[in-house]
Amino acid sequence: MKTLNKLTCLLFVGMAFLLTYSAQAQTSALAKYETQIDGIIAKMTLEEKVNMLHGVRIFSSGGVPRLGIADFEFADGPFGIREELIGNSWAPMGLGNDLATFFPTGSALAATWSSDVAYKYGLAIATEGRLRGKDMLLGPAINIQRIPTGGRTYEYLSEDPFLSSRLSVGYTKGAQDQGMAVCLKHFALNNQENNRGQVDVIISPRAMREIYLPPFEAAVKEADAWGVMAAYNKVGGYWCSENYLLQEKILRQEWGFKGLIVSDWGGVHSTVPALTNGLNIEMPGGAFLGNRLLDSVRTGAVKEEIVNQRVREILRVRLHVKPIPANEATQVITSQPRQQQIAYDIASKAIVLLKNDKAQLPLDITKYKKIAVIGENANQKNATGGVGAGVKTLYEITPLQGLKDRLGTQVEIVYSPGYVEFSRPQGRPVQGAPRPTPYTPADPKLVEAAQKAAKDADIVLFFAGTNREIETEGSDRESIQLPSGQDELIKALAEVNPNIVTVIVSGGPVDLSVVNQYSPAILMSWFNGSEGGHALADVLLGKAAPAGRLPFTIPVKLSDSPAYALGNYPQTGEVKADIFVNLVNGKETEKAPAAGNRNIAYYSEETLVGYRWFTTKNIQPAFPFGHGLTYTTFDYANIKTDKVKYGADEIIKVSVDVTNSGKVEANEVVQLYVHRLKGKIFFPEKELKAFANVTLKPGETRAVTLEIPVKNLRYWDEKKYDWALEHGSIELQAGASVGDIRLTAKAEI
Ligand code: BGC
Repeated sequence: MKTLNKLTCLLFVGMAFLLTYSAQAQTSALAKYETQIDGIIAKMTLEEKVNMLHGVRIFSSGGVPRLGIADFEFADGPFGIREELIGNSWAPMGLGNDLATFFPTGSALAATWSSDVAYKYGLAIATEGRLRGKDMLLGPAINIQRIPTGGRTYEYLSEDPFLSSRLSVGYTKGAQDQGMAVCLKHFALNNQENNRGQVDVIISPRAMREIYLPPFEAAVKEADAWGVMAAYNKVGGYWCSENYLLQEKILRQEWGFKGLIVSDWGGVHSTVPALTNGLNIEMPGGAFLGNRLLDSVRTGAVKEEIVNQRVREILRVRLHVKPIPANEATQVITSQPRQQQIAYDIASKAIVLLKNDKAQLPLDITKYKKIAVIGENANQKNATGGVGAGVKTLYEITPLQGLKDRLGTQVEIVYSPGYVEFSRPQGRPVQGAPRPTPYTPADPKLVEAAQKAAKDADIVLFFAGTNREIETEGSDRESIQLPSGQDELIKALAEVNPNIVTVIVSGGPVDLSVVNQYSPAILMSWFNGSEGGHALADVLLGKAAPAGRLPFTIPVKLSDSPAYALGNYPQTGEVKADIFVNLVNGKETEKAPAAGNRNIAYYSEETLVGYRWFTTKNIQPAFPFGHGLTYTTFDYANIKTDKVKYGADEIIKVSVDVTNSGKVEANEVVQLYVHRLKGKIFFPEKELKAFANVTLKPGETRAVTLEIPVKNLRYWDEKKYDWALEHGSIELQAGASVGDIRLTAKAEI
């Protein structure tokens, strides 16, 4: 009887395994082509197979013309479709039709805290990609914002894995519903730009699983992402593009990824390890997965079955994403009104009101005769700049233009630049020359002119922040200090007119300690896309209530943030020329390691990234994660859970009554954090586990229900190499930011 029980048990487990396995396989739209692919591979020569495994033009990999398999067309990504380039070069084609919509960049999208908005974003950008005949969008960019100075913080979504996951899922579904594949980038742990081409990330399995991988895992498992880009860096001693653990074990075997892995541009370092450990396509060119691969197969160093497997994974995507014939692509201008409207909607939901003392906003223009707009950021475009992908956009409304369009002749607007934007010298850096820095003193002449403009104005709109030259791919910021003497400038402005509203134009956190003293109101308006200026004017004038919430912590000072506090960043030693810049300059062989300690990034802050660090260590930030005000106030009452005790497969349902207690309709983002009450396992003080957007009319109350599947409360058990649940009591904390918890409830798990 015992034996029978054991057998039945085994059979049951086996069936359950098969069911889960097949359920996973069936969920991918890519799974249905296997028989067709068998037929195609059987007809292909080795040369044709290898031709599919590398770039044939700068943004295209090879097809099989003889069998009617089209080349595969990639497009940067992630915040607008990049312009067309000539053949194998980086030179623009100079077409008149490849003008795309510039969408708000990653951190702006994340500030909407909305998976639905991310869906629309993906849908809109993919619509433009398809108009241009592209198959795979090189986006979304979903690395965690580990350091406030990260060069690509503006492209990435959030410091929090849960928020990043909800957005990466929305974006992926939106783009792929439009028939275009996404490419989740950069897999994985590309959290710094300095020496991204050399650095080896040393991280614990727990931090990797709980903080850095979830946005990728969610987009693969929940949204069936069809593409992934291998990052430039190493993880645990192995380049990402030849990293068995990341590409084969985790992505393919554990998560059931069916699609293709493309290298970052110039990020391949070997032939046999890259191919056997999971890489499908080397981009651009075929230095490693071209002739060298042919030789490796011919000499027996690589088995042809592995080549077949890599071709199969590409063909799944190739057969699913319908190719667009060259004569049907780029027939109309890429940027179309529907996408422009979506760009506006996203931009207007992204703006974060950090502070509004004395209810200075919205501006009551009926009382104003003259508005002073100070700061070159009011007049700066951010679709392009710095290294890497930019958008040749059809148009971009600057803040100044937005105000003029919305205000017409109602009020006089005087503009004074106040400072000169930082820009990098053109051409290759001169050996030994000092690095250009944006942290220069104010220019007395410009300050004087700005004071003059501000003096008799009814209100001063001060535009501070960074730009795309300062926040750029390939290098991190030296500091979060405001550039170009902006701190000095605001002090000088306050001497002549203290009625200041500061608008921060940036993609990442900046040091607001000086600005905070002199501005009763502060807004964060991001690199907010083609319609950013209109969205900002509408928020300033009260036509739209601010709806955005911070997707990251703004620290008081850089040394408060975890990697800096622990001395894990910046690493000491030489900063090498960037891997991508070398590629563009034809020096891609310069992949040698940097001197000193530069090659290793220790993530010893473990899971204490972003607000997890600040709340656990009790460090006050300037503005906490999740923070954002609006033109009304919200009251929270009656927190309730549906049960007291929950099993491992159950869902905790928490309901909170939220009331709009002010006079304007607005959106609230109700956030639910989990705090562990007792236990043996270490957890951060607070972790975001659910949130909900709700738009309420003045006086309206709504019961908002937030759900946390108990399985989302598991931690990565390094000994078991699996997720594990620690049973015990938890506190559920509902609030308007991680620093503004309004109600708590207890539950047992
Ligand atoms: C970036 C990628 C980008 C690629 C192609 C690389 O330098 O890291 O994000 O997609 O270039 O432009």
